Amino acid sequence: MADCKVIEDKTTTGAEPPLRALRRELAPVLVDMQRRGATATMPGVRHEDVRFYLDDAQFVREQQLLFREIPRVACLSSELPEPGSFHTSVDAGVPMLLSRGKDGRVRAFLNICPHRGSRLVRTAGGKAHRFTCRFHGWTFDTTGRAVGIPEENYFCADIDPQKHLLACPAEERHGLVFVKTSPGSGIDLDAHLGALDRDLAAIGLETAQIIHSDTLQVSANWKYGLDTFFETYHLNSLHRETFRGLFSPVNVFDTFGPHHRYTFAPLNLAKWIAMAESDWDVDAIPLQYFLFPNTIISVGSTSRSGATVNVHQILPSSTGHFASRLSYCVLGGIRSPEHRTEIDAAYETARRALVNEDYSVVGESYPGFAALPAGTTMPIGRQEIGVQNFHRNVVRLLGN
Ligand code: FES
Ligand SMILES: [Fe+2]
Repeated sequence: MADCKVIEDKTTTGAEPPLRALRRELAPVLVDMQRRGATATMPGVRHEDVRFYLDDAQFVREQQLLFREIPRVACLSSELPEPGSFHTSVDAGVPMLLSRGKDGRVRAFLNICPHRGSRLVRTAGGKAHRFTCRFHGWTFDTTGRAVGIPEENYFCADIDPQKHLLACPAEERHGLVFVKTSPGSGIDLDAHLGALDRDLAAIGLETAQIIHSDTLQVSANWKYGLDTFFETYHLNSLHRETFRGLFSPVNVFDTFGPHHRYTFAPLNLAKWIAMAESDWDVDAIPLQYFLFPNTIISVGSTSRSGATVNVHQILPSSTGHFASRLSYCVLGGIRSPEHRTEIDAAYETARRALVNEDYSVVGESYPGFAALPAGTTMPIGRQEIGVQNFHRNVVRLLGN
């Protein structure tokens, strides 16, 4: 792939914060691209059949192969702040309960009562050391064990061990909680993240505080929604009211298995060419990560301080509908009233860009796809590198 490479692991020197050290490592690549007037590209145009977004049979396979058999981000660690904290979701059709036990460990369960399948926990989150099913009153602890069954003498001993909650693999790493929503399977985050693990460690989401959050409902295929995060080609046209002119057209794109990292350039990058490297304001470099299959982590793209992290999750519910969960975080929390004002304004801009621009186009346009003649393809340009890479990985992992 042209202009794509994985940055080698290097030992960080001195006391520089890891995120700054990472950006400093990436900066010379950006400056070199600027000097050459280059940006990350693919060797050729990809022609995507419109069925990629419309096929119900493909959607069923995506749910199983991409969302249930691959670890994915369930929530931020800060959403389970202390022993007894719990969090529920119904992502990709699977009701999940995440709970932090007295031992501090996060565990994941199907949020389905093993007695007669009732939804066990019916609130989005909170604190509890016991979960009682409303149907017949079975009670479970934070390790998923049934600790109270009314009239248990009417059940025989043969209901053990299926009287406990069904556990799914879960692991917490670098401020993120990963789950695999297949009970009884394993999780191997080292293999899943590969070299991306080092970047996640550098970002340091352990200190992330969610300042704003929202969930948007969009009537379109989930991959059409995700595509809007994977190219900057549309910035100056679609985002004329929000992001136009904020970034240089130079991008560096690195792949990590099915995941990727987009390194954007600050608008004044051209000036860096004539500056000493030590004078580069590397904190201003926005980084955008894609954790396959559905999570985007944008670091510092909408705040002068560079310490904001915008976590987007795209959650498909059918071929033609997805929810978009937005968590707008600040690393280390809010530092001053002025900082709060800046963050509020940045969040409003980011949300407006999504609602009025990206998802406005996506939701308005998608219903028309069905009117296109069979076999219609859409061209994905050489510079729309993230879109091409994402589609290539979806097709590869579905075995199409
Ligand atoms: S379904 Fe939960 S106790 Fe019966
Ligand atoms: Fe956009």
